[in-house]
Formats: sequence, C-alpha cells, structure tokens
Amino acid sequence: MCGIVGYTGNKSAIDILLNGLTKLEYRGYDSSGVAVEINGQVEMYKAEGKLQNLKDVIEPVKTEVVRSTIGIGHIRWATHGAPTTINAHPHSCNCGRLVIVHNGIIENFKELKEELEAQGCVFKSQTDTETVAHLIAREFSKVKNLTEAVRIAARRIEGAYALCVIHQDVKDTIVATKRNAPLLVGIGENEYYVASDVPAIIDYTKKTVYLDDNQIVTLTPNSIKLINEYSVELPLKIETLPWEPVSLSKMGYKHYMLKEIHEQPGIIRNLLSGKIVGLDNPLNLSEVKIDKETLKHLNRVQIVACGTSLHAAMIGKYILEDFCGIAVDVEPSSEYIYRKTVTDENTLVIGVSQSGETADTITAIKQSKKKGSHILIVTNRPDSTMAREADSLISVCAGIEVSVAATKSYMAQLISFYMLAIYMAEIKNSTDKDLLIKLKKELIKLPEKTEEILSQENTVKLCARKYANAKNFVYIARGINNATALEGALKLKEISYINATGYPAGELKHGPIAMLDETLPVLSIMMKGKVYDKILSNSEEAKARNARMIALTNSTDEKLKDLFDDIIRVPDTDEYLSPILAIIPLQLLAYYIAEFLGKDVDQPRNLAKSVTVE
Ligand code: G6P
Repeated sequence: MCGIVGYTGNKSAIDILLNGLTKLEYRGYDSSGVAVEINGQVEMYKAEGKLQNLKDVIEPVKTEVVRSTIGIGHIRWATHGAPTTINAHPHSCNCGRLVIVHNGIIENFKELKEELEAQGCVFKSQTDTETVAHLIAREFSKVKNLTEAVRIAARRIEGAYALCVIHQDVKDTIVATKRNAPLLVGIGENEYYVASDVPAIIDYTKKTVYLDDNQIVTLTPNSIKLINEYSVELPLKIETLPWEPVSLSKMGYKHYMLKEIHEQPGIIRNLLSGKIVGLDNPLNLSEVKIDKETLKHLNRVQIVACGTSLHAAMIGKYILEDFCGIAVDVEPSSEYIYRKTVTDENTLVIGVSQSGETADTITAIKQSKKKGSHILIVTNRPDSTMAREADSLISVCAGIEVSVAATKSYMAQLISFYMLAIYMAEIKNSTDKDLLIKLKKELIKLPEKTEEILSQENTVKLCARKYANAKNFVYIARGINNATALEGALKLKEISYINATGYPAGELKHGPIAMLDETLPVLSIMMKGKVYDKILSNSEEAKARNARMIALTNSTDEKLKDLFDDIIRVPDTDEYLSPILAIIPLQLLAYYIAEFLGKDVDQPRNLAKSVTVE
C-alpha cells in the first residue's frame, strides 16, 4: 500500500515524480503529494482523492515547480488517519525544512508521539508517519547529518517502513531506508531515482539496486552511498532489470480489466509453451528445485495466500490432493501467521501472490522458512520480496496487471498449479498415467476454448444488464469449482459493491436458503462431472424458493431451460480443468455489471492492488 518515488539529478523532477506516481497508482489512490526544492526552499503540494487532483493543484504553479531537480512523491492508501489533504504525504517537521514520504505502518507511533510532543513537537496530521518526520528532525538538530539522523531515528521505529527524506539544508540529497517494505534505487547518468516498485523508474533506467532491510542509501546527483544500520559502507549490488518500459496502454479497451481479461488465452499459451513436450514425456517444470527424492517423501503441503490468490490456492489444493495423494492445507496468510502451524522440513510451503509484496504472505513465508520448509513461490513478480525468499520460483508471466481486480494473474496462477500438480504426480507416480495424458491434451486446447468464450461475451453482457440492479447475489458450486464461486463473487463485490457470496451448493440449505426470494439471483456453476447431478438438485431447491436462476455450464442439456432464467455456456473440458473456463464469464459478468452501474472499474473504492501492510 502507498507508493513512494524520489528523484535527484539534472532534469526537472516534477514530471518524473508525477509519472512515477501514476505508475504506482495501483498501490493506493486516496490522496497524493510531492515535495520539491524551489529556490532553496522545500515546497509541498498535496491533494485528496485521485492523482489528477494533485496534478490540478500543481498546474497553476508549474512554471515555478519545473525548475526543481530534486523531489519526493507519495500516493496513499490510508491506514492511520482519514484520506484528507492534511494526512496526505509528504509530512514535515515543525520548521518545514525536513520532509518525508513513507510506505508502511509505524507500530510504536503512539509512544513516539507522546515523547515528541513532550519535547515540543506540534503534530498537524493524524498519521503515524508524521512521528518519523519529527523524530528524524530531532536527531538532525543534534548530529547535523541527514544520513546519520535517519540511521539513528530508524532504530527507534517499530513496524514496517520504506522512507524517503529530504532536507532544505542538505542540498540535492535524498536519504532513503526500508524495513519490511519494498524500495529500490534506479541509477541514471548523474541522477538517481528511488521508488517502491519498478514501473515508477523503468521509463528512465534499467540499472537498479534493491535495498535490503535496515540499509540506508544517500543519493545526490553524482553520488550514491549505501550503509547498514551500523554505518558500515556496503558494496552496491547493481542489477539490470529484465523489463521493458511498462506500457500502460488500454489497447483500445475501455478499462484495463477488460483488456486483461482478454489477454488470458495468450497467457495460457505462453505458460504452457516448452512445458508439455510430447504427451508421454514428463511435464518439464525445472523451476521446482526441490530434489525428486525429497519431493516423493514430503509429508504435507501448506499454501498461503490472500484474496484472489487464495482462491487459486484452493484449486491448487484440490488437484494436488487428487493427483498426488498428499495432504494440502490452504490458509489465508493473515491467519497462518498468528497460530502454531505444524510446519517442518518435510513440508512444502507454497506462497501464492500476484504482487509478491503482500505483507501477510511475506511474513508467513519467512516464518515457515525458519522452520526449514522448502519455499515455493508462485508470483507474477520475479523481482519481488517474496521471490527473493524462494527456494523454488514459478514466475507466472502474466505481464503487469494494472486493474486492481485480479483476472489474468489468477488465470496464470491456476495454470501454474495444474503444471505443478501434474509434475509432482508424475514424479510420485501417484495417479493414473492416462488421466495425466488426457489433462495435458486438454490443457493445450484451452487457449482456443478461452478465445471461444471471449468471442461470445455479448451473452454475458446482456445477462449483466438484466441483473445489474440486484442488491445481493449468490454463487453456488460444488467440488473443484467451489473456489470459482468464491472468486466470481469476490470479483462482483470488489468492483460493483454488490453483496455477493459464494457457497458450496450443498451448504445452501443449512442457512443461506433463508435469504432466497424472487429478488435474488443465484448463479449455479454446473460443470459436467461427478457433482453435476448434485448441483442440479441444489439449483432445483433454489428455484423452488423463487430465486432468479442463472446457469454457468458446459452442458448442452435443453431441459436446463426449464430450470434457469438465463444460461451462460462454456465449451466442454475435463471437470478438473473446468475452473479455467468457468472463471472467464464470471470475470466478464462482474466487469459488465460494474461498468453498467458506472463504477470505477479499474480503481474500486477502498482497495489497493498491493497490500504491503499487515
Ligand atoms: C489485494 C488485491 C487483490 C489480491 C490480494 C492479494 O487485496 O486487491 O486483488 O488478490 O491483495 O494480493 P497478491 O498480490 O498477494 O496476490
């Protein structure tokens, strides 16, 4: 949450800062601000709401502001203090000469605030961050050295932070540090950048240094110095980013979400390429570094994830248990980290995360690493904090996902789980060979089948119009598609704010059925296979309570028309693979309902794409 960016060099800073913040908007968008140095004075500009509001604030003074060649910027997702202009970053000390931007949470801010207030500091905002501005300023007044002041102050801070600091009396200098929050430095020609994430700097440089926890970097246009918390100077580990400048184009689509939904067939094709080489040959997944003997004797698998990634993990559990006969637990990372889990060196721990920066999942991974487990990370960001913790890394290669509601990364995670489950089953010899061959054959056909679904999106669009005014929505499924029901409901909730819930269909009669009446749409995910007849009966039960019935099915049974008001059809495939096809109409349904209701599809209220606070 929150994105920070900084620049010191020979170019005008403001456009670099604003461009950087635009690229970091996925981290939050409730307020933003920048600080630049103009005529030897630090000036701050802040605005509540979307980044455009900040641009509007700067526009009238742009001719002045463009003269600055140093600055820091911030885009906020509020944790402490409402998303108001006063709580927007940067925050300053009382004299206004020192300003900071911060991503993270200062856990001991109340104690620090009391201490600082007792010493005469006056607080303007309700944020935890302002404490750090006062704290560093107090140290600076003693040591007269900004790096040293940051170093000493950082030792007093508990919690997570990535910080950038500038001071009016320390010309052209940015000091930055981090603990449990991402921060990287970009190296240019007589210029340096600092940012929470690659997209903010990739337009300018590919040369980067990733900061480790407790390191402090001091940047001027002509120098970079990295030290640890004990003031020992460290060598720079310069990396070249394997990225091209991030295209933020919507490619003619109205929203990123729709564009990303349409990218899914290509993503499946890419992920499978080179993995299935001849149906009789074992699937090639060299990313898994765990040796085959250890893999055969694993006691259990634990999967930790949040949000949409958690739903992908549930499908992972289903197929890993079915194909490999190994016990798999799936748990939200935020729960896993606060209990005594049975995890040891014979446990494979899988962390699933689009961003690789979700704080709870990082903590879960670090905890299990300490217990000696092999850590497998499935992420869309091979350069992320989580990827750096991995013993094995499956990079899902979905490309930058801009829309806050995850779609293509979910698809890529699913495909990765199918590859992993088949790979492990082949090593363990734990499932019928013919089934695995059949699944590989089917997997290869999926790009075409997903294209077919997308070519018929109008059917879903019409359905979306019809049901857009519902206040509540229920999604039911059984078996492997229970997670599809949860993910479909989550998509709708996230972007349309309609109260949507996913249930295992068999559970409907144990409570939720009480809600059903003629106003409530029930969407049944009915994929042919071992639970088809069961979900059909559950749908009958819902129909008998007058619910508005929608089927999502691969059955061509004409009789379904008697039971369902609307039918969304997907191509046939093996039941095991059906979640891959079933999710696409649900993504489209959520998209078109939100779009019809005029919601901000790509940046829904209260959400952030990367949740870097616990
Ligand atoms: C946020 C996003 C979700 C995402 C979740 C987990 O809540 O809005 O779309 O599923 O974080 O993120 P991760 O990057 O770990 O998959």
